[in-house]
Amino acid sequence: MLKIDYTNVMAELIGEKDGILFQEFEEYKFIVEEIHEKIQRERENSFYFTQLPYQDTKEIKAIAKEIRENFDYFVVIGIGGSALGNQMLQEAINGFNYNNFEFPKFYIMDNVDPEKFGNILDLIDVKKTMFNVITKSGSTVETMANFAIIYTTLKELLGENYKNHFIFTTDPEKGFLRKFGQKEGIKTLDIPPQVGGRFSVLTAVGLLSAAVCNIDIDSLLEGAKSADKICSENSNVLENPAYLIGLIHYIVSQKKGKSISVMMPYFERLSSFVDWYRQLWAESLGKEGFGQTPLKAIGSIDQHSQIQLFREGPKDKIITFIKVENSLRDFKIPSDIPDDISYLSGYTLKEILDIELLGTRAALTKSKVPNLTITIDELNPYNLGMLIYIYELATGFTGYLYKINPFDQPAVEEGKNFAYGLMGRKGYEDKLKEFENLDKEKYTLKVE
Ligand code: PA5
Repeated sequence: MLKIDYTNVMAELIGEKDGILFQEFEEYKFIVEEIHEKIQRERENSFYFTQLPYQDTKEIKAIAKEIRENFDYFVVIGIGGSALGNQMLQEAINGFNYNNFEFPKFYIMDNVDPEKFGNILDLIDVKKTMFNVITKSGSTVETMANFAIIYTTLKELLGENYKNHFIFTTDPEKGFLRKFGQKEGIKTLDIPPQVGGRFSVLTAVGLLSAAVCNIDIDSLLEGAKSADKICSENSNVLENPAYLIGLIHYIVSQKKGKSISVMMPYFERLSSFVDWYRQLWAESLGKEGFGQTPLKAIGSIDQHSQIQLFREGPKDKIITFIKVENSLRDFKIPSDIPDDISYLSGYTLKEILDIELLGTRAALTKSKVPNLTITIDELNPYNLGMLIYIYELATGFTGYLYKINPFDQPAVEEGKNFAYGLMGRKGYEDKLKEFENLDKEKYTLKVE
């Protein structure tokens, strides 16, 4: 179960300057219908992620079973859309203690921060590790750098047997990794060509590591399937959760000056979900002067950090709270406690967390900060699958409202091109020259 409460984004509650009138939803009726038709037509190409809930998971589950039986460690080497979803699934379902109690232990090598890389190496035994190299393009610098070190290490230790410690996940045809996998005979899984990195969590990209860590991936896809059924059959924004989220964010960003979208779950297992959302929303929609800056906040921790700004700072934010009704554990405050804090007794920690949300939400509404609340009954694979699907569709839909392409990332490529130039990669000589003209250290202040 998933419920979206959008009462506090409506003008009725917070006024017309910051809030939305139902009439404004109505004004977009035909545009939304048009976009809905377009999305349905594009289910086999740009919107291919809508087909993913219907895939057969037999092969992924069989590979995962073999890995679970033969390896003590499972390491994903990937970055961006080839890592954030993996982290999100693991944390949302298995929580924070998985590596302390379960096998295979799961790590992600995303950054090329040498200390982080080394810290993971310290924790694993490479001879007992399966490395899953994930890259849609097959050539991302960070992923290739981390891969190259592990490849050489394994080859030195194991000779030709190194191949049994790698599984690749990449484009079915394009890119270096696909070619290398074919040449070396390394097991390689496909990322459907139509699915870009940040929309790929429900492909082998996210599903393999989830299945290795014993997450019920069929249930995850079932949840996504339910969301797809509702969303593909319904173009009415008030009945389609993805369009509702999309249109609300679009209207407040375009008409009410809300250029920042805060996501604030009151449930820490959703912390990495926000990181995943941040990439999805930023990289898909931040184009041609449009988009919203996604901002992470965690309840109740950030009440003691950012809420002051959210209430009394610039009126440029819309907030999405996420509430999970049932926690796996809870602790009751005893009655035999000092008088000054006795108002707490009888409550459980979860009850206090929920009350904190209510208090913060009311305070924000009072300050006319538009906010919506997504409530899910339990944080299980089914509900997470729904949430993932809804946010992917909301993102694609909102991109079409802005009339931009939500599926490319041209501005990311330019930074990569300069990096290639700096590393002396063939074909990028012009980029090095351009870089030298752009990057000059002219005004500095040194403190010793
Ligand atoms: O969403 C995207 O396409 C990007 O953020 C990629 O996920 C990221 O750059 C990593 O790319 P790749 O999977 O090709 O290594």
